[in-house]
Amino acid sequence: MQKKLVPDYIRNLQVYQAGKPIDEVAREKGLTKISKLASNENPLGPSPFAIKEMTQGLWELHRYPDMHAHKLKSTLASLYKLKLENIILGNGSEGIMGYIARAFLGPGDEVLTSEKTFIGFYILARSSGAKLVRVPLTSEYKYDVEAIAKSIHENTKVIYIANPNNPTGTYITKKEFDHLMSFVPDHVLVILDEAYFEFSQNEDDYPDSMDYRYDNVITLRTFSKAYGLSGVRVGYGFAHEDLIANLSKVKLPFEPNLIGQLGAVGAVNDSPHLARTIMNNTARYNKLKSYLTKKNFKPIKSVTNFICFKTGSAEASDYMFNELLNHGVIIRPLKSNEMPDYVRVSLGTNEEMDHYYEAMEKILPEYDKKFGRPS
Ligand SMILES: Cc1ncc(COP(=O)(O)O)c(C=O)c1O
Repeated sequence: MQKKLVPDYIRNLQVYQAGKPIDEVAREKGLTKISKLASNENPLGPSPFAIKEMTQGLWELHRYPDMHAHKLKSTLASLYKLKLENIILGNGSEGIMGYIARAFLGPGDEVLTSEKTFIGFYILARSSGAKLVRVPLTSEYKYDVEAIAKSIHENTKVIYIANPNNPTGTYITKKEFDHLMSFVPDHVLVILDEAYFEFSQNEDDYPDSMDYRYDNVITLRTFSKAYGLSGVRVGYGFAHEDLIANLSKVKLPFEPNLIGQLGAVGAVNDSPHLARTIMNNTARYNKLKSYLTKKNFKPIKSVTNFICFKTGSAEASDYMFNELLNHGVIIRPLKSNEMPDYVRVSLGTNEEMDHYYEAMEKILPEYDKKFGRPS
């Protein structure tokens, strides 16, 4: 019966693997000090404004939230100078990717993207029965816009670009984005996933999608990263009102939940917290990048809150991941991202990063005997 019930494209899906949770590591390893540098979260925590709003919301939990999330949409509309009709909200930006798959994709459709990009999107696209067409990254670990442009053909329905990309931390420039768009037909939807936008927006040649007004582009952003609200799952999308109207038809009515809506409003209204977050990130980035460079681990230049670097082999990555775990530091091996010879480290607080550096210094002598440095 199951064989008939479950389509092959669901049976063949790989389950998404998240970063190891702190409680799980504490329990398994019997440790009390854990530094989680595995899921690109905000190490400073949520904004105090967001906490205040969410706490007050606890007294309203017997009520459904505002189905139209008017307050949050208005807050975003005034921040980005948009109309409410241009905004969609969901359970994280992945929730909105799910609506896109539900509304626009089916068996026979093609979704075009890159290898070594956000796995969550692969799963959602495949779960609609669509065919995923993926081109390799460039030798600089960037989306290859030329190869993507050449791969567009009549069955292509959606193009997905994570800008900046996870797990590499690289981005496509304004020039590359313009070049790509010159090849994209009007009926193909481009998803610009800008989950790390707040960290990359100050790069001169970063294409902030708010500066463009294409009818066939949807921008996705999130409160999970710089805004420090991963736990309540709020994402938002901006696009032409017609696109938003159609997506809204397949959206579950009360997403995001009440606490998420309130927290997100508080977070947007606390720009000093966002500024502190970005300042912390810049300082931690510079130090980690120079540490890894000095150690010859070849870190990839990143405009996000994480750095991806080369270990040289899947065995070396596993060893580094497991040994750091034994010292209470959780990083991310990248086997499921098809980069088994790389690992990714999210940028934490100063204290968490010191924990990471101490653990690295402890494990490196034995690591070097086994693996040496990547060539
Ligand atoms: C590129 C990218 N897009 C989307 C997400 C998911 O974001 P959300 O928590 O808003 O679903 C992530 C999370 O790691 C990501 O790296």
